[in-house]
Amino acid sequence: MMNSPTVLVTGATGTVGSDLISALQARGATVRAMIRNPDRPVPGVQNVVADLRDRASVTAALKDVDAAFLNSPSAPDAAALQIQFADAARDAGLNRLVLLSQYAARADSPVRFLRWHAEVEAHLQRIGLDHTVLRPNLYLQALLGFAGTIAQGWFGAPIGDAAVSAIDTRDIAETAAVVLTGTGHTGQIYTLTGPRAVTHGQIAEALSAATGRDIAFRGVPADQFTAALTGVLPPWQIDGLVEDYAHYAGGEAAEVHTSVPDLTGRPARDITDFARDFAPAFGPA
Ligand SMILES: NC(=O)c1ccc[n+]([C@@H]2O[C@H](COP(=O)([O-])OP(=O)(O)OC[C@H]3O[C@@H](n4cnc5c(N)ncnc54)[C@H](OP(=O)(O)O)[C@@H]3O)[C@@H](O)[C@H]2O)c1
Repeated sequence: MMNSPTVLVTGATGTVGSDLISALQARGATVRAMIRNPDRPVPGVQNVVADLRDRASVTAALKDVDAAFLNSPSAPDAAALQIQFADAARDAGLNRLVLLSQYAARADSPVRFLRWHAEVEAHLQRIGLDHTVLRPNLYLQALLGFAGTIAQGWFGAPIGDAAVSAIDTRDIAETAAVVLTGTGHTGQIYTLTGPRAVTHGQIAEALSAATGRDIAFRGVPADQFTAALTGVLPPWQIDGLVEDYAHYAGGEAAEVHTSVPDLTGRPARDITDFARDFAPAFGPA
């Protein structure tokens, strides 16, 4: 890859994408942020307005880029949107695509999100585009979604005391930047995890220590979790989350992989690092 590659970042306003922009800049890349709202450009980089649902806009966004990071919202048509992007990238002669997938993506998974991700991975194999797959585990930043009840001293999920090697999304971004700007990653699938597997009870302890407050974790049955989210999230998303949590609760997402330290040259962030850095977000309402 050339010295200052131009990298298109989809999901540029999202959890991983926003940190990826600074990580790419730190590695000397020229960043082109793909955004939907022209009134809210990402500062300090090229911006291109495009929508994954509009292929012509994607084709225009891909013009003259050396590499692209593909991330999409979690949506029922996520696989179709990502496949369309991959086809547009192939037609544009893109040299490198880095795909954000998920830990344990598998065509026959009982978890729909993992099947969707596997479908995109298989498509990339088929079309022969130079690509690398990142499969991150549960995001620690997903805990920010529980900030409302955490402000009241607790959070609940149907996971029991199963441990998960959850990852800080800043480590996903830094690893993606290495892969997008480096060499030797073609065809690789990197599973990205934190440095250890933690239970939600241990997460609660880390949040308590970092905030100086008592924060408890309560295991809740799936039907109670569903009831609490009904009307807040669409049914497909609630069902998908319940499937995700059943997978975590079964101890199927507890392996620790060393891709983050291997690729970035420094340890993956621990739950205690996340809790310290995000403590203000978990304060009382
Ligand atoms: N949460 C987890 O624990 C976890 C774990 C592993 C993998 N993942 C995967 O991570 C991916 C992203 O999930 P996330 O919830 O973290 O989302 P996110 O990346 O934080 O946000 C979604 C991004 O997509 C953009 N976007 C939405 N609709 C779009 C469209 N039609 N065209 C172009 N861009 C669009 C949004 O931009 P706007 O600002 O325009 O809305 C935003 O930048 C999913 O594939 C999920 O499966 C999540």
